[in-house]
Amino acid sequence: MSTQQTLSIIKPDAVAKNAIGGVLHMIESAGLRVVATKMVAMSKFQAEGFYAVHSERPFFGELTDFMSSGCVVVSVLEGDNAIQRYRDLMGPTNSNEAPEGTIRAKYGTDIQANAVHGSDSPESAATEIPFFFSAHELRGLNHG
Ligand code: CMP
Repeated sequence: MSTQQTLSIIKPDAVAKNAIGGVLHMIESAGLRVVATKMVAMSKFQAEGFYAVHSERPFFGELTDFMSSGCVVVSVLEGDNAIQRYRDLMGPTNSNEAPEGTIRAKYGTDIQANAVHGSDSPESAATEIPFFFSAHELRGLNHG
């Protein structure tokens, strides 16, 4: 399996719970490498842009209100098969259905306040990573 990068967002609910370190610890313990990370406060407009693919969904307004309600921590994770491995580590979208050992079981509350986001495909990762990170921010571990 080839090395992949995926975008992780630690959402405002997990940041409010003081769980930034807890989530990053679970990520690193699972063998995924954090190759870039920063805290940002998304505007409503930025949240609408990031989640544009969901713009026709009934929950779009709530989702973008929530994602712009506080700071988030965005990270690029790298590893073999990183996209699926991170999705497995997060657990299902609805935190109430997340099995023990997943990030959403530990830190999520429900389907909206679900602690974390991860890219769902290589195509999503290829648009989501540059949404937050410029090329020079991604050089770090890749280039020593
Ligand atoms: P995420 O992985 O960030 O991708 C889209 C987000 O929309 C998802 O996590 C949930 O937080 C949110 N979402 C999906 N379905 C619903 C829903 N039915 N009601 C509210 N929020 C939802």
